[in-house]
Amino acid sequence: MGSIETPPPTAEENGPTTPTCNGNNKQQQTHSGDGLEISAAPTSEKTPENDVSKKRKTGVLPLEVGTRVMCRWRDGKYHPVKVIERRKIVSSDPNDYEYYVHYTEFNRRLDEWVKLEQLDLDSVETDVDEKVEDKATSLKMTRHQKRKIDETHVEGHEELDAASLREHEEFTKVKNIATIELGRYEIETWYFSPFPPEYNDSLKLYFCEFCLNFMKRKEQLQRHMRKCDLKHPPGDEIYRCGTLSMFEVDGKKNKVYGQNLCYLAKLFLDHKTLYYDVDLFLFYVLCECDDRGCHMVGYFSKEKHSEESYNLACILTLPPYQRKGYGKFLIAFSYELSKKEGKVGTPERPLSDLGMLSYRGYWTRVLLDILKKHKSNISIKELSDMTAIKADDILSTLQSLDLIQYRKGQHAICADPKVLDRHLKAAGRGGLEVDVSKLIWTPYKEQG
Ligand code: ACO
Ligand code: ZN
Repeated sequence: MGSIETPPPTAEENGPTTPTCNGNNKQQQTHSGDGLEISAAPTSEKTPENDVSKKRKTGVLPLEVGTRVMCRWRDGKYHPVKVIERRKIVSSDPNDYEYYVHYTEFNRRLDEWVKLEQLDLDSVETDVDEKVEDKATSLKMTRHQKRKIDETHVEGHEELDAASLREHEEFTKVKNIATIELGRYEIETWYFSPFPPEYNDSLKLYFCEFCLNFMKRKEQLQRHMRKCDLKHPPGDEIYRCGTLSMFEVDGKKNKVYGQNLCYLAKLFLDHKTLYYDVDLFLFYVLCECDDRGCHMVGYFSKEKHSEESYNLACILTLPPYQRKGYGKFLIAFSYELSKKEGKVGTPERPLSDLGMLSYRGYWTRVLLDILKKHKSNISIKELSDMTAIKADDILSTLQSLDLIQYRKGQHAICADPKVLDRHLKAAGRGGLEVDVSKLIWTPYKEQG
C-alpha cells in the first residue's frame, strides 16, 4: 500500500482566495471542490473583540443551535455561519463548547467543527432561523421515485414529506466520518454517509482500494490487503485506452462491492441516496492502471432500466483526481453507452453544483462543436440524435447561452461563429476523450 501521497496543491486549488475543503491537515489531498462559491461569499476583515467573559455574563454563551454569527474561516476572514450542533469540550469551564457550523454562503461540504475563538460574538444574531422549517412543512410528497430517499438540503428533497425531511436533516446534519484512506490517498470527506452504526464512532475509515471493504483500523486493512486477491473492480473490463480502464460491475452479481461503493460515494455526494437496491444498477468504475493494479479514479452508476430515460444516476470523481477532465470523460462515456443503446439519455436529478457545472460544460462543448461544423440549419431533434443528449437539456443549454430565438412558433438556433467561439472558450477544457473504438460493450439484457 505504501505511504500516503501528498501531491502539492496547485495555485488554483489552494490560492489565497480559493477555499478548499481540507481544513488544516497539510497531509491531506487537496481538491478544488469549492472554488465556485467563494466569489459570492461576503467577507469581513474585522477583528472581533472576543471578549468571551463579557458575553458569558450577558448570557450569550453557550451559543444555541440555530444561532447566526460570523466565523473566522481558514482564509483568515469572517463569514456568516449558522450553528448546527454543539458539543462540550474537556475544560475546567462547564460552559466550554465547540460548534459545528454551516457557512451559509458555501456548500455544505465546508461545514465543520470550530472553536469559540473563531466566532465573533459581537455579531451574534439570536433569532433562530425558521426558514428551513417553514420550507419543509410546506413541502408535499410528490410521485418521484418513491423507492428513493434523497439526502440533505431542501432543494433535493421534493420527494420527501416534511416529517421525513426533518428527520433526515437531523440525522445527516453532522459529518460522521472525517477522513478516509483509500489506496495512496488520505481524503477528507465532504458529507455524512450512513455507514452501519458500529462505524460511527470512527473519525477515519480505511478502505481496500480494490474490493472497497472498509475497516476501522489500519492494522485491519493491512491484514486484509495480505489476503485480498482483487487487483481491479469485480466485473468486466469494457474499455481500455493507455493506462485508463473502465469496468462494468453488475450490482446484482457484486452486491457487497456495490454497497461499499455507495457508502464511499455518499461521503462526497450530498443529495444522493443509498437506500435503493444495488441489484437494479450497473456501476461503471474508471481506473488508472499500473503494475500494482487498477486504482479507482471515479465512477458513475446507471439503472438497468430507466423509465425516465436516465443514463446516469450518480457520478463521482474522487477528490484527488478532480479537475483533471475525468468528470467530463465519465459524462461522455455515459452518452456513448446511450448511443450504443440507440437511446437519448439525461442524468438523474437533482444535479449538485459541481454536477451542473460539469454537465453544462460538456453539453456546451459538444453542441457548439457541432453547430460550428454545421453551417446549415440544424434542429434540436437532429442535435439530440447525433449526441444522445435529451432535447430538454439541449434546449436549456442553448437557452442559457442565449442562442435560441423563437420565431413564428419555432425555435431557431443562432450559430454566429464568433458567438460560438466565445462560448466555447468560456466552456473550459474538453476533458479526456473517449475513444469509442476501444469500447467493447453490449447493452444490458436480463439473463435467465
Ligand atoms: N470549481 C469550479 N468549476 C468546477 C469545479 C470546481 N471546483 N469542479 C468542476 N468544475 C467544472 C469546470 O467547468 C470543469 O471543467 P474545467 O476544469 O475544464 O474548467 C468541469 O466542471 C468538469 O471538470 P472535470 O475535471 O471533467 O470534472 P471532475 O473530474 O472534477 O468531476 C464531478 C466533476 C464528477 C462533478 C466532481 O466534482 C465530483 O465528483 N463532485 C462530487 C460529487 C458530485 O457532486 N457529483 C455530481 C452529482 S449530480 C449526479 O450525480 C447526477
Ligand atoms: Zn479488498
